[in-house]
Amino acid sequence: MEDKEILELAFKAMKNAYAPYSNFHVGACVACKDGNYFLGANIENASYGATNCGERSAVFAAYSNGYRKDDIEKLAIVCDGHRIAAPCGICRQVLSELLNPDTPIVLSDGEEILITNMKELLPLTFGPEDLA
Ligand code: THU
Repeated sequence: MEDKEILELAFKAMKNAYAPYSNFHVGACVACKDGNYFLGANIENASYGATNCGERSAVFAAYSNGYRKDDIEKLAIVCDGHRIAAPCGICRQVLSELLNPDTPIVLSDGEEILITNMKELLPLTFGPEDLA
């Protein structure tokens, strides 16, 4: 999927954000290699720590539908903040296990676009191989 299209889908997902506490809205889209895609948004909770970030929502949706990291082509994450939002620490840990290290991650705030991947965002990971 082209960056333009995955970003449009992520902005569409952002409209479904439930963020009454932060008022910071995040949308995400996982594009799969077979052409399917999954949307996610941040879903907050009055018990703040129970909040789910947009990118985790999208990746969990893909996994919930049977897709795995090798099936994922690209992830887009967008927000309505004043600058690009890179994944938080919890999301980096989760994404480092659920995405391949070089899968493109397209970030945008509607103005700038930054393309990165988990290899860049979280070097020296702790992962399943450590538990083997
Ligand atoms: N948030 C995300 O959804 N993704 C990020 O990468 C950063 C933060 C959400 C969590 C919370 O609902 C709001 O943004 C403010 O932290």
